[in-house]
Amino acid sequence: MSLQAAKVGASGVPKVSTAAPVRRRWGAPLNQPMRNWQGRRVWLIGASSGIGLACAKALHAAGAKVVISARDLGLLSEWAEACNQQEVTVELLTLDVTDALQVKYAMRQVAANGPVDLLLYCAGHYRAQRATAFDLNDMLRHQEVNYSGLLRVLDAALPLFLQQGFGHISLVSSVAGWRGLPNGLAYGPTKAAVTHLAETLYMDLQDKGIGVSLINPGFVATPLTAQNNFQMPALISPEQAASDMLAGWAEGLFDIHFPKRFTLWLKLMRLLPYRLYFALVRRFTGL
Ligand SMILES: NC(=O)c1ccc[n+]([C@@H]2O[C@H](COP(=O)([O-])OP(=O)(O)OC[C@H]3O[C@@H](n4cnc5c(N)ncnc54)[C@H](OP(=O)(O)O)[C@@H]3O)[C@@H](O)[C@H]2O)c1
Repeated sequence: MSLQAAKVGASGVPKVSTAAPVRRRWGAPLNQPMRNWQGRRVWLIGASSGIGLACAKALHAAGAKVVISARDLGLLSEWAEACNQQEVTVELLTLDVTDALQVKYAMRQVAANGPVDLLLYCAGHYRAQRATAFDLNDMLRHQEVNYSGLLRVLDAALPLFLQQGFGHISLVSSVAGWRGLPNGLAYGPTKAAVTHLAETLYMDLQDKGIGVSLINPGFVATPLTAQNNFQMPALISPEQAASDMLAGWAEGLFDIHFPKRFTLWLKLMRLLPYRLYFALVRRFTGL
């Protein structure tokens, strides 16, 4: 894509690059609020089901041109075909984030059709694991999908975003990455890494005109959590999660966490000394 083309948003609206250091008024949103999705182009990776798919549908309904990636997009072809008979398009692009060549190829495909206003990394793998049944292969699988896959995507996407001088990168992490939790031996550390990465990306990209946000859902009813054999507190639907994400982007938040009735308690627990934290987790989970 030529630099000239890259300076024009997917909507055809010329974008202003904010290459000069950004001085934000205290209390101002940490990101440029994203409210109008009409004609914006968004790439959602890990969106064949659950939160990613609900988000794709919500963004499409708001007028965005949506590109959806995951390994298995078969179930979406009918919906995409129906959408493509209307004005606002849905592109399906098969992608396994554990394969660096596929990621690079997919990025080229996406870039060939125009600039990207939002990249959402939503691909995730979760299996409950405890230290008493340590499974190295599954530990590494979590790392491959949840963290290394994201690094591969950033490796391919950052040059494009830097060349564009605009756009927003949003990473789906989890409250499970905030502190250690039982059953989270494999999953939790990968999400802690995503959170840390997002914080650093924000600081590196804020002066380049590129927004970064972090999505921290509590429990959402998706195929990923269907394996949980306990009653999930404050469980919400993927549609509610998507609506909270769009609200967070509209406010220009960096940390988009939901549902608040659950995440605010966990934020408080983040501050507790270990002795108290371990005792409370044991009491609440029985583990
Ligand atoms: N559900 C929750 O309570 C919850 C809470 C906090 C955070 N999260 C996070 O939210 C994100 C979405 O999860 P979800 O709950 O919506 O579960 P989900 O419905 O299982 O979605 C996971 C998505 O990741 C894709 N994926 C998995 N491996 C992939 C790979 N190698 N390459 C490309 N795509 C891959 C899956 O598609 P394919 O299988 O077709 O590839 C699917 O689209 C994940 O990052 C998860 O960790 C979920």
